[in-house]
Amino acid sequence: MKLGEDFYRRILEESHDEICVSDKDGVMLFCNKSFEENYGISKDDMIGKGVEYLQENGYATKSPIPKVILTKKKFTIEQKTHTGKTLIITAIPIFDSNGDIEYIMENVRDITELNEIKHELESKEKEVLKYKSEVETLYKSTLRYEDEVICGGPIMEPIITTAKRIANANVNVMILGESGTGKSSIARYIHRISKRAKKPFITINCTTIPSHLLESELFGYKAGAFTGANSKGKVGLVELADGGTLFLDEIGDIPLDLQAKFLQLIQERTFIPVGGVKPKKVNIRIISATNADIMAKVKDKSFREDLYYRLNVIEIKLPPLRKRGENLIKMIRYYFKRYCKEFGVPDKTISREAVNVLSKYSFPGNIRELQNIMQKIVLTSPGDCINASDLPYIIDFKSEIKNPTKDKDVGRNDNLNNMANSIKYNSDNDELNFDDIMNEFEKIIISDYYSKYKSTYKIAEKLGISQSKASRLVRKHLNSDS
Ligand SMILES: Nc1ncnc2c1ncn2[C@@H]1O[C@H](COP(=O)(O)OP(=O)(O)OP(=O)(O)O)[C@@H](O)[C@H]1O
Ligand SMILES: [Mg+2]
Repeated sequence: MKLGEDFYRRILEESHDEICVSDKDGVMLFCNKSFEENYGISKDDMIGKGVEYLQENGYATKSPIPKVILTKKKFTIEQKTHTGKTLIITAIPIFDSNGDIEYIMENVRDITELNEIKHELESKEKEVLKYKSEVETLYKSTLRYEDEVICGGPIMEPIITTAKRIANANVNVMILGESGTGKSSIARYIHRISKRAKKPFITINCTTIPSHLLESELFGYKAGAFTGANSKGKVGLVELADGGTLFLDEIGDIPLDLQAKFLQLIQERTFIPVGGVKPKKVNIRIISATNADIMAKVKDKSFREDLYYRLNVIEIKLPPLRKRGENLIKMIRYYFKRYCKEFGVPDKTISREAVNVLSKYSFPGNIRELQNIMQKIVLTSPGDCINASDLPYIIDFKSEIKNPTKDKDVGRNDNLNNMANSIKYNSDNDELNFDDIMNEFEKIIISDYYSKYKSTYKIAEKLGISQSKASRLVRKHLNSDS
């Protein structure tokens, strides 16, 4: 079928993009319907006029045609019209057989709407950046400076070493320990030294969110999921933690029906918002903590066993302060110094004897109680040096010290004290240096435990050290292994 001139004319006429053709001097020969929409003038008014007519009469900004005539090359510009449109014009020279310009064809696309969408997108992007920086500030404020982790001493060092070792492995960690032993601090510490440090650390305290709100707080909800819900829906805490760490505090207290949802989250890293059907994916590291006897909860079936094993891939057990030995002494000194500085008495000192007396207290409230006591001592003790005799006037635990807690391990501590006393040295004897003394002490402990338990596994368990360390110590001091 042969297509006639009328066919081409109609096609050009109906084109959504504006099409114009001028002669070699820029005088308009043809334009289609879209021209009228773009400039608000009729085609008949334009045909026969030079392109400069539009600019000179305020219908539009610059035309690309003069430059095409000058350079004999294709040229594209953005043009604004008095009708408020933004146009992208590409002007193409069409040559005769001598290589001279015969016509110039313009292809004109209206990008006004596209621009509006672009601006909307830009302003949304700005808004997102604003919220992002707000969230960053928020989660940075949860990683407070006071999270200085005092980790010295043979009881705490292996725990911190474990925390460091597992920080970058994407395994779930469960932190156990009495109230105030530093579970939340260790969780934040692991996040801070991990590759996720620049992403959010979101804490969910499973006991403080009312149980009927817990699910929507955690997983968010779809628009109109339930009466009273925000009409736009809501992003849950789990989604906010994407890329970072989700800290489930007081995990022992979550209701059974939510435990099933957690299982899905942990196994598949997906969750379904309230009122939704499609699972959403998240990339999170889960750290949980509890001061409850979680094993007892597993046994009485108030905590799902499968969930327990998923959460407890790595277990970090924080001992109470009264069992930390050297770490407790470091902690006393650290908080004494810190509060002296904070309260503006940087030259105050505390005697070794006073530290010794304090270290024998049972600290049922652990580090939080230690902080309170140290604040009291710094603020209320008279004189520049705090001696043991100052303590009973300041704090009310004199009777505690005289009648130490009935803790089952106190017997062991007494035992260790006796061992310490059996090391024959006094501080005036400068023949023994610190390493020699510690070595001697280590030998007494290892010999004593080895004669009692005859197994490095048992010694490791009793002393809270790794089996390889127990084995190394036995080899070092007793020249044998088991
Ligand atoms: N290793 C540490 N060195 C110094 N201070 C610490 C250490 N660990 C924790 N703290 C401080 O002790 C206080 C209690 O710690 P944290 O809140 O982490 O305890 P917790 O076990 O989570 O308590 P709870 O069971 O009440 O939630 C905090 O002020 C914290 O900064
Ligand atoms: Mg806590």
